[in-house]
Amino acid sequence: MMNPAKGNTSLLLLSLLLVCPICTSPDTITLDQPLKDGQLLLSNQKTFALGFFNPGSSNHRYVGIWFNQITKQTVVWVANRDTPLNDTSGVLSINGKGNLVLHTRNQTTPIWSTNVSFSVSSTNNYMAKLLDIGNLVLVQQDSQHVTWQSFDYPTNTLLPFMKLGLDRRTGLNRFLTSWKSKDDPGIGNCSYRMVPTGYPQVSLYMGQTLLWRTGFWTGLRWSGIPTRMTSKYFNVSFVNNQDETTVMYRTFSDAAKPKVIVKMVVDESGLVQRSLWQETTWVEYWSAPQELCDKYLNCGPNSYCDPNNLVIFECKCFPGFEPKSSRDCMREKQGVSMCNNGEGFVKLAHMKAPDTSIAHANMSLSMKECEQECLRNCSCMAYASANESEGGIGCLTWQGDLVDTRTYPDGGQDLYIRVDAVVLAQYAKENGLTQKKRMLAILGVSVAIMFLLIVSVVYCFVMKKNKETRHSTYSDSADSTLPYFEDSPSRRDLDGTRRNSNLPLFNLRTIIAATENFSTANKLGQGGFGPVYKGLLQNGMEIAVKRLSKYSGQGIEQFKTEVALIAKLQHRNLVRILGCCIHKKEKMLIYEYLPNKSLDSFIFDETKRSCLDWGKRFEIICGISRGILYLHQDSRLRIIHRDLKASNVLLDNALNPKISDFGMARIVGGDQIEANTNCIVGTFGYMSPKYAMQGLFSIKSDVYSFGVLLLEIIIGKRNSTYHHDGPSSNLIGHVWDLWREDNSMKIVDPLLDETYPAHEVSRCIQIGLLCVQEHATDRPTMSTVVFMLGNDTPLPSPKQPAFILKGTYSSTDRSTSAASNSINEITLSKIDGR
Ligand SMILES: *[C@@H]1O[C@H](CO)[C@@H](O)[C@H](O)[C@H]1NC(C)=O
Ligand SMILES: *[C@@H]1O[C@H](CO)[C@@H](O)[C@H](O)[C@H]1NC(C)=O
Ligand SMILES: *[C@@H]1O[C@H](CO)[C@@H](O)[C@H](O)[C@H]1NC(C)=O
Ligand SMILES: *[C@@H]1O[C@H](CO)[C@@H](O)[C@H](O)[C@H]1NC(C)=O
Ligand SMILES: *[C@@H]1O[C@H](CO)[C@@H](O)[C@H](O)[C@H]1NC(C)=O
Ligand SMILES: *[C@@H]1O[C@H](CO)[C@@H](O)[C@H](O)[C@H]1NC(C)=O
Ligand SMILES: *[C@@H]1O[C@H](CO)[C@@H](O)[C@H](O)[C@H]1NC(C)=O
Ligand SMILES: *[C@@H]1O[C@H](CO)[C@@H](O)[C@H](O)[C@H]1NC(C)=O
Repeated sequence: MMNPAKGNTSLLLLSLLLVCPICTSPDTITLDQPLKDGQLLLSNQKTFALGFFNPGSSNHRYVGIWFNQITKQTVVWVANRDTPLNDTSGVLSINGKGNLVLHTRNQTTPIWSTNVSFSVSSTNNYMAKLLDIGNLVLVQQDSQHVTWQSFDYPTNTLLPFMKLGLDRRTGLNRFLTSWKSKDDPGIGNCSYRMVPTGYPQVSLYMGQTLLWRTGFWTGLRWSGIPTRMTSKYFNVSFVNNQDETTVMYRTFSDAAKPKVIVKMVVDESGLVQRSLWQETTWVEYWSAPQELCDKYLNCGPNSYCDPNNLVIFECKCFPGFEPKSSRDCMREKQGVSMCNNGEGFVKLAHMKAPDTSIAHANMSLSMKECEQECLRNCSCMAYASANESEGGIGCLTWQGDLVDTRTYPDGGQDLYIRVDAVVLAQYAKENGLTQKKRMLAILGVSVAIMFLLIVSVVYCFVMKKNKETRHSTYSDSADSTLPYFEDSPSRRDLDGTRRNSNLPLFNLRTIIAATENFSTANKLGQGGFGPVYKGLLQNGMEIAVKRLSKYSGQGIEQFKTEVALIAKLQHRNLVRILGCCIHKKEKMLIYEYLPNKSLDSFIFDETKRSCLDWGKRFEIICGISRGILYLHQDSRLRIIHRDLKASNVLLDNALNPKISDFGMARIVGGDQIEANTNCIVGTFGYMSPKYAMQGLFSIKSDVYSFGVLLLEIIIGKRNSTYHHDGPSSNLIGHVWDLWREDNSMKIVDPLLDETYPAHEVSRCIQIGLLCVQEHATDRPTMSTVVFMLGNDTPLPSPKQPAFILKGTYSSTDRSTSAASNSINEITLSKIDGR
């Protein structure tokens, strides 16, 4: 249906289009050919346009440059950033002094000017034109000399062929500054600049605060950007000589490759974003800083940030340092000389090199020479390569504290840390590699006494290490997941234990004494795998003892091996296994004792629950998610918990959640459970449908259980006993019904203080629903869950979750009968404390 008004408009547009190229759009600006508001100055191939525009919803007019051939106006440069025009009376022209100036029609005093100062005699031979790379240049026509260019005064966007950094000949320092807001291109708070101090690196600032170091260009990539993020759209050239310290991105000149439209923008919120224009829209393919570990000085000096758990990070100490607080490290042994005293270097792989503003570079040294150079100079604490490109030579050395370092799951570079002879021996021993030979060579025969000393110190160190199961190797980040330990039991605490490899074996007599012969008074509860008792060792340390006597199928050696493996899983959100006790057919696990009871005694109890405000509940949710993530992903064993539920989450004094009963399938023997019970481990109400029906489990069944637990924490009711008179009788079904009605907040625990952030709670409910999706593939992985909890990114919409049908659990066959017989007995039994 043709609309006459519309027809008129298009006719008008058509005539405008026909007329305008003739009436406007000069291809240069000269003294007698100014650019008025409404006109456009186009580059030769019409890739860029210069003209007047209103940013966002602002009424102010600015002069800017934008991409001409894309449908969304994207301004890449602004002239009068802080001096907007109020109307459309603006004129951009060349004045009598050869400057490009912006003024209003009736006034000649410039609102903005290029400010090039030189002695001009003949002024009418200057012109401004726009190049096809988006550079506005002011040229002297006779000499073709460029007297000014917009690329020297970048705003918030870096375009290909634009240089970032210092030109020492002209004194220019080109850096990006964010806009004030989407509506105001004025100079904002964020800047992205080349910092030439030490060894030049590029950094992002908010005001004067350093937010993130992109780092230095290693020839292949930026030291602060993971390899996989390295752009395939740019060819970066970094120049560092007495004339300039600059970096420039080029798009590939290869004609076979299609021309890409790319930009890098410093956003007003403190992000550096790179986007690519694809057909109709900008696609952001990279932005930083991304993780907490990217944040400058997120971990203190001499520690490095390990983003193992995505949102939470761990600060780990460099070799030779030990934790002082959760983010700071200090020298393990004060006053041990590291000067011609047998010291050497320990290699850390996949690292972001420390802040190079305090580094010293010598670009003519190879890595071998670099090591020698660093070893010779006693104040040198670390070295790394400055140039990784083919056969690249270049040496970076650091003195004093090493700051702002992190690891990457992949990529990064090798960092060599200076350590004293003892630590060196320790690492050499652990690696069993060349380090040891080197150390021996350095020591020689003459320092035999010293060697003895080392042996004894190493011995002590190893003993200490055994006790704490401390970090193994630093060069393999997967191995060093255990940075900080809360108070480990000291050697005396384990009095009455015999040592077997790394696993303390407790004597039965000790345990009997501690639990007063397993007295009923000391019984904490009945867990899925046997009763749990509280115990008190003679030295005053409290323990929890779990008797596994029922499961006698597994051989003792295998049992010990499994317990030793499981005991190595240490995370602040996991209950710690201290050891085990084996006597004939009797097997026991000894755990740390947590005085607060399990989470179910809190969240399903009205009085206790009211003490848990939203902040605490959210912390508990996050803690549990991190614990599971650790089990799933970060530990070498990749444990599936299989029986995650509120009663298996214990709370410490500060109400931090600690998951218990993990790895039981391994400890008691996976087949054994199913043989003995003829059913599936797990607790109804927490089990994913697939698991419940077919006995199949995967990490996604833990995600399901986590989802249920999360919803229970928010709602304050048990899924397994929840009844509701509505279309869906169970908890998840009810949440889903309310969610669909956009009314999910109705289900939130009424005991929660009204002041909770509705947005966050609603987000958690959505995450919960995502976790309990029917199909395992629709459920997020635990790392995604942790990420979603920690970031305010958009979430996918949940589909209908599992177990929605009317009926207690499911309408489907086998599970109900199997469950009612044995599962309930085993795992729905109440466990108090443990
Ligand atoms: C625009 O209006 C503001 C406020 O009225 C005034 O301060 C400013 O000078 C005006 N700018 C120009 C270019 O006229
Ligand atoms: C500029 O001058 C024109 C005519 O010379 C006049 O009509 C207009 O009102 C003036 N505008 C301003 C803002 O002074
Ligand atoms: C031009 O230079 C003058 C004097 O050096 C300075 O005050 C003014 O802010 C400069 N203007 C611009 C637009 O850079
Ligand atoms: C910039 O920083 C100042 C001072 O820190 C602050 O008041 C202002 O809100 C910030 N502006 C933006 C756009 O963030
Ligand atoms: C990158 O730029 C350099 C310097 O201009 C050039 O020699 C090289 O061929 C470019 N690389 C690619 C892949 O285009
Ligand atoms: C780099 O090392 C070489 C060899 O030790 C030395 O001759 C040169 O002076 C050093 N250069 C700088 C800039 O320190
Ligand atoms: C160690 O190296 C730094 C930086 O290269 C230098 O300033 C210092 O003088 C050197 N010290 C010694 C003892 O050579
Ligand atoms: C890195 O090494 C390559 C190859 O030797 C060389 O071409 C390049 O200029 C070096 N880069 C720097 C910054 O020294």
